[in-house]
Amino acid sequence: MDKDFWHRRWQKNEIGFHMTDPHHFLQQFFPLLQARLTDSVFVPLCGKSPDLVWLREEGLKIVGIELSRTAIEAFFDENDLPGQWTDETVIPFCAAEGYKLYCGDFFDLTATELSGISSYYDRGALVALPPEMRARYAAHLSSLLSSGSRVLLISYSYNQSETKGPPFSVPQQELEALFSENFRIEILSEEDVLWSHQGLVERGVTQLMEYAVLLIRK
Ligand SMILES: C[S@@+](CC[C@H](N)C(=O)[O-])C[C@H]1O[C@@H](n2cnc3c(N)ncnc32)[C@H](O)[C@@H]1O
Repeated sequence: MDKDFWHRRWQKNEIGFHMTDPHHFLQQFFPLLQARLTDSVFVPLCGKSPDLVWLREEGLKIVGIELSRTAIEAFFDENDLPGQWTDETVIPFCAAEGYKLYCGDFFDLTATELSGISSYYDRGALVALPPEMRARYAAHLSSLLSSGSRVLLISYSYNQSETKGPPFSVPQQELEALFSENFRIEILSEEDVLWSHQGLVERGVTQLMEYAVLLIRK
């Protein structure tokens, strides 16, 4: 999955992953992030997700990163937010009251951009990455987060031989392999969601599980 793949998806508006409503696992398990009002939450590979607005309405400040400037501009436009670009920083960003969305590569992030952040929300990030990049993602995430930081992560599991990703299947065993060295892992819930993923049905997927996990940095 190279960067051009995602830029093309946004340019052609092929964004089947985009939801119109906040994810119900986020609403259900948000308290487990133990975020205090006015804390910041980091959302990697954020697209223009409605989860960003939901988290903001819970009182958190939003820090995200997304490759596509088109996606970031759409997020601010569609939510009537007066986004202001700063292009002189190492990673440019667009900001409005309570929102700061970096436009760039997640793997270029350093502790500087995540300074003081201990809550992290991943929906559609890990599962957007092919296997070799998932290992890099887990390692980079571990390097960015300090001890006690909490991650709410939503993942898919299906028979990967039925179709190619994205979204990729990241079953619970792989999650263990990726994160157990640096995180405590708690599986929170698992649901059969094939009925709501018609695109994957058309691609030949016959069973699709979606699950929510809490990771706590050791
Ligand atoms: C499957 S989408 C999920 C978007 C969002 N989390 C959501 O739930 O709607 C993955 C997003 O990650 C972005 N992306 C892919 N690789 C990236 C990277 N290395 N750094 C930052 N963003 C990336 C893509 O442009 C795309 O918007």
